Amino acid sequence: MCGIIGCVGCGDGTLSTLLHGLSKLEYRGYDSAGVALVGDGSLRVAKKAGKLDALEAAVEERADLAGTVGIGHTRWSTHGPPTDDNAHPHQDCTKRVAVVHNGIIENYQSLRDELAESGHEFDSDTDTEVVPHLVEASLEAGRDPEAAFRDAVARLEGSFALACVVEGTEAVFVARNDSPLVLGIGDDATYLASDVPAFREFTDRVVYLEDGEFARLTADGWSVSDVDGTLREKTVDTVDWDPEDTGKSGYDHFMLKEIHEQPRALRQCLQGRVDELGGSVTLEELDDLDLERAHLVAAGTSYHAAVYGAQLLRDDGVPAQAFLSHEYATSPPPTEDATVIGVSQSGETADTLAATREAQRRGAETLAVTNTVGSTMARECDHVCYIRSGPEIGVAATKTFAGQQTALNLLTQHLSPGPVDRDLIAALRDLPSDVQAILDETDAEAVGETYLDSDAYFFIGRALNYPVAMEGALKMKEITYKHAEGFAAGELKHGTLALVTPDTPVIANVIGDGELARKTVGNVKEVEARDAPVVAVTDGQSDVERYANHVLEVPETHPRAAAILANIQLQLVAYHTAAKLGRSIDKPRNLAKSVTVE
Ligand code: G6P
Repeated sequence: MCGIIGCVGCGDGTLSTLLHGLSKLEYRGYDSAGVALVGDGSLRVAKKAGKLDALEAAVEERADLAGTVGIGHTRWSTHGPPTDDNAHPHQDCTKRVAVVHNGIIENYQSLRDELAESGHEFDSDTDTEVVPHLVEASLEAGRDPEAAFRDAVARLEGSFALACVVEGTEAVFVARNDSPLVLGIGDDATYLASDVPAFREFTDRVVYLEDGEFARLTADGWSVSDVDGTLREKTVDTVDWDPEDTGKSGYDHFMLKEIHEQPRALRQCLQGRVDELGGSVTLEELDDLDLERAHLVAAGTSYHAAVYGAQLLRDDGVPAQAFLSHEYATSPPPTEDATVIGVSQSGETADTLAATREAQRRGAETLAVTNTVGSTMARECDHVCYIRSGPEIGVAATKTFAGQQTALNLLTQHLSPGPVDRDLIAALRDLPSDVQAILDETDAEAVGETYLDSDAYFFIGRALNYPVAMEGALKMKEITYKHAEGFAAGELKHGTLALVTPDTPVIANVIGDGELARKTVGNVKEVEARDAPVVAVTDGQSDVERYANHVLEVPETHPRAAAILANIQLQLVAYHTAAKLGRSIDKPRNLAKSVTVE
């Protein structure tokens, strides 16, 4: 939510570096964007409501917009609608200061009242705008730019990643509290961003900032200090993925590219962790994890992975429950001895961090299951298990959901007191090629086309396929803007059946030929009797095809793996429906990939 970029040392390429960085960060927010550049003693700002191309067009008209130090921002609104005035950077009365911000300043209203009383005038509805005015007030009191920035930050309550430039000073001042920030260390230039893809093309060396840290970027290099100004030693890490991984590689959308990357992503997740010959799963990083009971906390798509993971653990005899992280954080259950597992592709979701922090406050052991190396959750939790999906840019999570499901299978096997399930190990080994088979042969595009004008879409499944049904519906809602609901198959008849008509396709996950499948086929018959079209996602073991208008096949495999495969078909149905409707697939309206406010 909101993306920040900054750079020092890029010379004439400063503006293009900022715009490039913003294009890589647009997944974090895309309702307005802006840049500020410092050079030749002046500060120049351009900002515009709308997606980044609106800013790019505005910048074309601005021959004056040059500088050697710069900051930029792409916004996901929290305070005030997306307008030019509410776009970042924000400035002070004298227009000598420019600030970009990600997060929420909780005490902004009292600061704004105080500043207004002493004569400051505000141009926007944002919480952020108090920051440049606070910096201005300290500059007027005779403080130097860095001290003035620190003074301002000292007054703030809430969450923030902040970058500030001041006219006449060729430096970027940075502060972090509860919102992600990472430095990129180039040979001649230093970068700053909310996330690595923003500068990955220029360097693979990174320094993650911690809460309470400040940084200063100048032509001479970079430094990190604490709140008292004491310099901190920081580790320079190297990221291990290519810049190519953050491009579209010829696909129309990042989402489609990421759906097609799933075989590779799952291979990476499994690599070195599964010994098929020895029949074992090894998660070395979790060797000292001692788990007797688990609470899985997550939001959005990750919550569906958490529901799936909780069932895996329960089925293997480990008491486990999934919770929506925002609910868990505010009303945690009384169970003291549970290990709390934060499931989050970004590792930065404020709701989920609030839940893991609440767990830590109560003394519980915590584990992060995440895709993002160096993310806040990865660093704060006692243990971390990476899903290794590679960068995901499309706002709608796809490969990271499959990665979470796979990693949770590994975790369950790693923890399981009983013998390892050899059939599952074999199924996991085959998972990448099974996913590839679906990608090669799917009829999802035809399904999308056939039901384009539907009033609503209902997704049903039982047991492990219940969270998959919820995820299928969420994907459909997010990118098509059509009404969709996911249900436990047994629940449909307890109310929602009243909505079922010939214009509401029901997409049913029916795996295997056991009792669960037979009962779900019974539910399919109920909707078929009401003339609703049926799309069956099936491995062909049951007779559901007799009642289905369309069949989307998944290879026959272990039921735990089948629930991963079924989801691939649902991703594709949502994608093709959205593509045919001409939706903004990678940047759906009102959404952001990483929501760092509660
Ligand atoms: C946002 C995204 C969702 C995502 C959720 C949780 O709402 O739009 O796609 O599932 O955050 O994100 P996380 O990074 O914690 O998995």
